[in-house]
Amino acid sequence: MEQSRKGAPLLAYNSFGIEAYAEDLMHIRQAEQLAAYHPGMPFRILGGGTNILIASNLQGAVLRMEIDGIEVLEDNAQGVWVRAGAGQVWHGLVEWALERDLGGIENLSLIPGTVGAAPVQNIGAYGVELSEVFAWAEVWDLEMRSIRKVKGEEAGFGYRDSHFKGAWKGRYIITHVVLHLRRNARPNTSYTVVREALEKKGIGDPSIRDVSEAIVEIRKTKLPDPSALGNAGSFFKNCSVDARRYSELKLRFPGMPAFQQPDGSFKIPSGWLIESCGWKGKQQGRVACYAKQALVLVNCGGATGLEILEFAGEVARTVEDTYGLLLEPEVNIWEDN
Ligand code: EPU
Repeated sequence: MEQSRKGAPLLAYNSFGIEAYAEDLMHIRQAEQLAAYHPGMPFRILGGGTNILIASNLQGAVLRMEIDGIEVLEDNAQGVWVRAGAGQVWHGLVEWALERDLGGIENLSLIPGTVGAAPVQNIGAYGVELSEVFAWAEVWDLEMRSIRKVKGEEAGFGYRDSHFKGAWKGRYIITHVVLHLRRNARPNTSYTVVREALEKKGIGDPSIRDVSEAIVEIRKTKLPDPSALGNAGSFFKNCSVDARRYSELKLRFPGMPAFQQPDGSFKIPSGWLIESCGWKGKQQGRVACYAKQALVLVNCGGATGLEILEFAGEVARTVEDTYGLLLEPEVNIWEDN
């Protein structure tokens, strides 16, 4: 049979809508199943498949994390500790928290993907990052062959970064995540777009539910729905430069926006860089730069991972030629020879 020769189809498991195959696809519903895997074996961990670009057929197994469940571990004056399975849909956890009036993750509403993937890239949006509420993760340690806890301070969280995707890749597999949420939380409305959306609705003293609803509306207007148009959210990270580099750039390109970070560096929105190079809304073959948010690349139907990768390469080359800035992918690229 054609399908068994190619292996396990991944089309239904990646939001870019790429047709690709892995040798094997395993559904992991319990941490114990991970004991069958050893460091050095060819396998990849899959969550919701919303932040990957599969650029070739894959050797080895894809382990789809499907451990579910949400429970309260502790509830006291300092807050509420909530433990969720890695396979839980992230926005489902946000909804669960909103229903119980537990604050801390409302700004991360509607981020696609699963709970287990959230710490890997330290998901962030509208002024909040997962690292701010992350208490610990329970991980399967492939070397020690046991479960251990990894606390927030150990995890090396940075902008869309952590040790889970760096030094610990191939060693730790996240099975559960514990978040520290709060009752009577004051929502974070530091982002102008969020404040404006709330003002427009006449909401002066927003609840966490109000903030969540405003953010869901913003995201729906800017980001394409993967079930209608294949995509993986922001394709590139924003660019980070030091203060000296920024002042040089500002002299040459006075219109360039930038946001100063707590460490003194400047974040330059890659969406602006891409748009100013004329890519926004542009289509080549079966791939396009999304018309409402230039940081998002979309599969217009039937594109291969390689086509998307080549399109991304052209976008990045134009930005580098124009500004001397290197765009780094935010999505994980899965590719085997
Ligand atoms: N911009 C443009 N043109 C565009 C898009 C953006 O000029 O087409 C500029 C504007 O100056 C705008 C600024 O970029 O003010 C920031 O844009 P936006 O608020 O849309 O956010 P972003 O930096 O493009 C990041 C995250 C998103 C997250 C939003 C909201 C990254 C790589 N992306 O995007 O996360 O939802 O902020 O906080 O950090 C994701 O990671 O997949 C993702 C969607």
